[in-house]
Amino acid sequence: MSELAGVARAWGWAEDQLSPLAGGLINQTYAVREHGVPTAVLQRVHPVFGGEVNLDIEAVTAHLAAKGMTTPRLVRTLAGEPWIVAGGRVWRALSWVDGVTVHTVPDPSWATAGGELLGRFHRAVADLAHDYHFARAGVHDTAGHLATLAVHVAAGGDPEWVELGREIAAQASDLPPLPQTAARHCHGDLKISNLLFHTEPVRGVCLVDLDTVGKSTMAFELGDAMRSWCNPRGEDTGGVRFDLEIFGAAIRGFRSVADALLTADERTAIVLGTETVTVELAARFCVDVFRDDYFGWDASRFPSRRAHNLVRARGQLALAQAIRAVRSDALEIVHG
Ligand SMILES: Nc1ncnc2c1ncn2[C@@H]1O[C@H](COP(=O)(O)OP(=O)(O)O)[C@@H](O)[C@H]1O
Ligand SMILES: [Mg+2]
Repeated sequence: MSELAGVARAWGWAEDQLSPLAGGLINQTYAVREHGVPTAVLQRVHPVFGGEVNLDIEAVTAHLAAKGMTTPRLVRTLAGEPWIVAGGRVWRALSWVDGVTVHTVPDPSWATAGGELLGRFHRAVADLAHDYHFARAGVHDTAGHLATLAVHVAAGGDPEWVELGREIAAQASDLPPLPQTAARHCHGDLKISNLLFHTEPVRGVCLVDLDTVGKSTMAFELGDAMRSWCNPRGEDTGGVRFDLEIFGAAIRGFRSVADALLTADERTAIVLGTETVTVELAARFCVDVFRDDYFGWDASRFPSRRAHNLVRARGQLALAQAIRAVRSDALEIVHG
């Protein structure tokens, strides 16, 4: 019996009920069908996440469901386990939710619908009481990533890398400090492909990819979302831009549902957070230009990991500069 068949059997499923879902970046995801109708996803979870993360997902999604929100729920095995380990890897199942996945924001109406969904999520979790079993270390340690980059720049290397590292450091030093704001329950990875939508009319259905749930701040939660949503051409093309229309549409959607949640400092933090996470990501890509040991890369488009990371680091730096250029407009959108 194949490993996959053995895993599926723990939930009472046969291998021929499974089909791989394309498009996932981190987890290996299979749709599970009963009489041809999808009922669940079976996922081999990326090794950075411990199995206990599933207890956090269970707690957050139970709270969402109790508030009447649509959400995937953890499906336990026939033996009642929240996850199993096979081949040294964590596997878990979640109930299926029908919806459309997009990898870039098609137009501002999707940003508004997505923003409304984030608003509903944040309203729903605002009164959740849960201590997380699993937390990833070092996420959004902006100062730490910049310090690592500074060490590499000081040690020297290819002049092109050193120059880029200096430019990223200069961009970072232009950033006002993030206002200190309360930790909230957050999704933690709100790229647009982690929202399911219905179309005609466009409406956000639910959030998926819940492994990163945990306590964070609006600065990182919405900042990272806006960094990716508002740069519809993606991370590794020459042509990055920050689309203020998408930003405005998304924030309008969020505020139409959850405006009362936000403090004045959190509003400012959304804008500065967008800039901060962008500079942070530029620094991380640039560190990997020096180290050449971390990020995956596309060998069909680039001659080396370094070449891919150089393009990504330059792209995020250009994006940070583009956000800086519209900072005051973006502040008006969050405060106005
Ligand atoms: N519960 C679910 N119901 C329906 N589709 C899902 C569900 N969970 C994930 N998917 C689909 O599978 C894709 C990949 O799953 P995701 O959890 O986002 O993994 P990855 O970390 O690889 O991005 C999602 O973008 C979505 O299209
Ligand atoms: Mg995903």
